Amino acid sequence: MTRNDTAGEREQSRVPRHIAIILDGNGRWAKKRGLPRTAGHAAGAETFRKIALYCRDIGVDYLTVYAFSTENWKRPTEEVKTIMRLLDKYLHEAIETMERDGMKMRIFGDVSGLSPQLQALAHTADEIADHVDGFQANICLNYGGRDEIVHAARRYAEDLAAGKVSGELTEESFSRYLYSAGIPDPDLMIRPGGEQRLSNFLLWQCAYAEFYFTDVLWPDFTTEELDKAIAVFRSRDRRYGGVK
Ligand code: IPE
Ligand code: IPE
Ligand code: MG
Repeated sequence: MTRNDTAGEREQSRVPRHIAIILDGNGRWAKKRGLPRTAGHAAGAETFRKIALYCRDIGVDYLTVYAFSTENWKRPTEEVKTIMRLLDKYLHEAIETMERDGMKMRIFGDVSGLSPQLQALAHTADEIADHVDGFQANICLNYGGRDEIVHAARRYAEDLAAGKVSGELTEESFSRYLYSAGIPDPDLMIRPGGEQRLSNFLLWQCAYAEFYFTDVLWPDFTTEELDKAIAVFRSRDRRYGGVK
């Protein structure tokens, strides 16, 4: 960008700093092909890999994806097991290549409800993330927006009782207790798969996110689709309750 660019031109070329995606539509993608739902989850994991690298390359700082919700335990045991196995495999590979790929990863969610293997992977990812700079992918696992807020409130109450915090609770101080502590709120929230709801994702953080819904199923989601979402994002007028 040259120094002569106008503010309007800069606005048009802006890349969202933080993108959140609800990875939805894996099951329907598989059904359309006569495959088991689990094949859709495997395809979805591949799509995640591509989109995460693309986000890194175009200058997005944070990508937060919804991979397994606190409500997804209601699914058949076999499906849950397969999803967990895939996550385990994917996270293992990702952790090995994270530093080389210049990306770090964190797990958001109630990790205590995951298998000991996944808990250990989340811990290793955190350790690496603590000393790697650059693009960050947050994978939401056993994540629920309400659960996150209740957890945060409990931890705050504990700190208060222990005398570790004092003064009035503010939005800013409360957000330090969320899984997303220290990272900016999502600018753009994308939901593929055709549904137009949040399904308990990032309830606090999406207060002023721009929403983009598409019927494309997550395993079919491409970098061109992401470009489209970003183009729509750029055309939005973000007023935050004010006037322009
Ligand atoms: C999203 O795809 C993945 C998870 C929720 C784990 P779905 O499995 O919800 O796919 P659909 O919505 O049934 O097509
Ligand atoms: C949201 O998708 C959760 C994830 C993508 C992890 P769901 O498929 O679980 O959402 P609903 O049931 O359609 O609301
Ligand atoms: Mg779904």
